[in-house]
Amino acid sequence: MASQVYGTPYGAEPRHPGWPARLGPLDVAAGTVMLRPIRLRDGGDWSRIRLRDHTYLERWEPTAAGPWSERNALWAWPSQWLSLRGLARRGQCLPFVITVDGAFAGQITIGNVIRASLRSAWVGYWVSSELAGGGVATAAVALLADHAFTSAGLHRLEATVRPENGASVRVLTKAGFRQEGLFLRYLDVAGDWRDHLSFAVTAEEIGEGFATRLVAGGLATRPAPR
Ligand SMILES: CC(C)(COP(=O)(O)OP(=O)(O)OC[C@H]1O[C@@H](n2cnc3c(N)ncnc32)[C@H](O)[C@@H]1OP(=O)(O)O)[C@@H](O)C(=O)NCCC(=O)NCCS
Repeated sequence: MASQVYGTPYGAEPRHPGWPARLGPLDVAAGTVMLRPIRLRDGGDWSRIRLRDHTYLERWEPTAAGPWSERNALWAWPSQWLSLRGLARRGQCLPFVITVDGAFAGQITIGNVIRASLRSAWVGYWVSSELAGGGVATAAVALLADHAFTSAGLHRLEATVRPENGASVRVLTKAGFRQEGLFLRYLDVAGDWRDHLSFAVTAEEIGEGFATRLVAGGLATRPAPR
């Protein structure tokens, strides 16, 4: 008899379950949060916000070659979009834009999707500084965790964060992730090898849903159907 994985027989699993998708809405203090696939025409908003938020973002992001102004120029987006879209089409990545009240507000990505008997991936995110503290990242993580363990058929979601990144530690804690350990000199961030806390959740922890728990905890509300 064939084994079952979330209702899908082994051997018949689609190559990229859960992609493409639109997730949400969820209302938070900053507005109505939704997730949708990245688009080529996101380049203008992406570049404008990331150039403005250079100091806000760079100290938490992996080190990369070239100056920030070049890596985040408008002309840098098409190659990033193409690369992420290619990974998404191969089932290795789920790259979403976070929107607030319909406008581009940041990105959240499930990356390094490994299937077979691991069915694990990481989640990474950033949100415009104009919306800081408005609950946007927490809502996005909760929506994406629900999606990861249902439509996307994953079993484990991991996030690593520098201990100094109080806002991101708080996001993961509010969204229901558990701290599992500390990775020493884990990732090259802002020009040096940085220790990272490792956070994770597994499918067994979904309960009534991560977004539903945010709502129950008073951290978000579900918009009334129109
Ligand atoms: C981390 C980040 C995504 C948070 O986005 P956000 O939409 O502001 O997050 P939320 O509003 O959902 O939650 C932020 C929480 O952190 C808290 N916070 C903010 N700065 C903090 C700090 N220095 N120390 C501790 N908590 C802090 C906020 O008060 C809020 O908690 P609260 O709701 O209990 O008050 C955003 O700051 C960002 O993009 N940072 C740069 C990129 C980054 O760090 N990405 C993550 C890498 S692991």
